[in-house]
Amino acid sequence: MSETPAPPRHFLEIEDFSSAALERLLALAAERKSSPPSDKCRGRTLALFFHQPSTRTRLSFAAAIARLGGHGVVLLAEDLHLDRGESVADTARVISCYADAVLLRSTEQTFFDDFVSCSEVPVINGLTARSHPCQVLADMLTLGEVLDGALESAEVAWSGAFNNMTRSYLHAAMRLGFGLRVAAPPPIDESDGELLRLAQNVNPRIRFFEDAKDAVSGADAVVTDAWSSLGDSEDSAARAARHAALEPYRVDAALMACAGEDAVFLHCLPAHRGEEVTSEVIDGPRSRVWLEAANRLPAQEAILLWVLGVEDLPRGG
Ligand code: CP
Ligand code: NVA
Repeated sequence: MSETPAPPRHFLEIEDFSSAALERLLALAAERKSSPPSDKCRGRTLALFFHQPSTRTRLSFAAAIARLGGHGVVLLAEDLHLDRGESVADTARVISCYADAVLLRSTEQTFFDDFVSCSEVPVINGLTARSHPCQVLADMLTLGEVLDGALESAEVAWSGAFNNMTRSYLHAAMRLGFGLRVAAPPPIDESDGELLRLAQNVNPRIRFFEDAKDAVSGADAVVTDAWSSLGDSEDSAARAARHAALEPYRVDAALMACAGEDAVFLHCLPAHRGEEVTSEVIDGPRSRVWLEAANRLPAQEAILLWVLGVEDLPRGG
């Protein structure tokens, strides 16, 4: 009797992992950060498939697979046969013949979900309109470093758009137990309201504020992101309305002054100085955005080691 193959080890959402598994991934990332290149993934191919632009995700994963002895191939959606009618299912099956894992960025959720369901190899979520788990894993590594490992006792404030990063931060706070104080313009849409309620049931230190100063008050870290995300409406009136609603959430020196004395500032980048953050803050002494960007590399190495079956993660916990 032939054995049923194990399902691919997809890395789709932070919430899919237990706290013990996330802590192990973060420990693996820290180990990789202080280790030389290795050949643990020699002969393995990672397809880097992008529907939208990317600087950090693309290069950090390409460098990560190279540092592990494997090989990355960038596939831009417009270079494939999708626009000429090849189905997503056929595309996913064919990519599975050649690649050992796929890093996929697509803000078209149906495309993303269909690709995952047809892929025979692990798929890593390289950003959807809903979430950005690879970035938030790197943020957790960064916060662990700058807070001397005291992430669980930390208070993290989010001030800005309620977007893919916010949701992955909520998933991380649910699993890792830190305080997360989210300030974003109301109204929050129904599914995000539901996620907030679920997250608060798991971790009562997750709170929502309409006023950015209330959220940031006494925080150990202040985090923001672009006011327009990949996949948001490009319509100029919609964009203007979104940006107008976000004005009170800009992270400037006055808002940072409400945070704890040693509070750090994070932003996943790309940043828009003068919109979601002032130059004074992002280029100032409390900013840790370059460490955060650099930490994408070891965080992506840890994810690759797990999806490619080189390392296991604890279950449960
Ligand atoms: N932070 C991040 O994911 O950046 P890119 O869009 O450049 O990949
Ligand atoms: N929220 C941003 C993150 C970019 C890395 C976006 O989706 O554009």
